[in-house]
Amino acid sequence: MKSIELLGKTFEHYLGESEIQSLVQGVARGLQSELQGETPLFIGVLNGAIMFFADFIRYYESACEISFVRLASYEGVKSKGEIKTLLDIDEDLTNRTVVILEDVVDSGKTLQRIWELFTDRGAKSVRVIALFVKSGAYEGTLPISRIGRVIPNRFVVGYGLDYNGLGRNLRAIYQLREEM
Ligand code: IMP
Ligand code: MG
Repeated sequence: MKSIELLGKTFEHYLGESEIQSLVQGVARGLQSELQGETPLFIGVLNGAIMFFADFIRYYESACEISFVRLASYEGVKSKGEIKTLLDIDEDLTNRTVVILEDVVDSGKTLQRIWELFTDRGAKSVRVIALFVKSGAYEGTLPISRIGRVIPNRFVVGYGLDYNGLGRNLRAIYQLREEM
């Protein structure tokens, strides 16, 4: 399989379009049967979840609404690892069935911030769905209700995921080549 170069680093093909689509479809169809009779509000976590989100809602063939949040790691000296909210939703969550879509859970810091943001807003229920969870990286205890796939703890790009801003538009997913 072909590999790609981004900013001098080599990434090897990891998951093709059809494999990704079947993961996304599985997650969407599973949730659809769980949420029968509800009109969930799907909240995408920008920027990484864009592709996952767009495909997911097309496989979800029942009534739903959508919104987005944008989070970013705060790089301040004193608050290393803190996550800033750059864009919040404006919907009222009272009695809503809320489902947050995240691209990949690594250390779990972003997931932690997501839970802080969405609890105590009066929602009927809140779920987090992640396309990928890195094995051995995430040691948190916060629930992830559905996972597309547990992947090795290696940096990945493509299908919305970036390396220094690049690679989000790739249709497949590529893994950073391990240095010899
Ligand atoms: P965490 O806060 O350490 O769990 O990292 C989660 C966020 O970092 C995700 O929402 C991604 O946007 C980004 N991220 C984590 N791992 C990767 C990766 O392998 N490739 C690209 N982005 C990643
Ligand atoms: Mg993300």
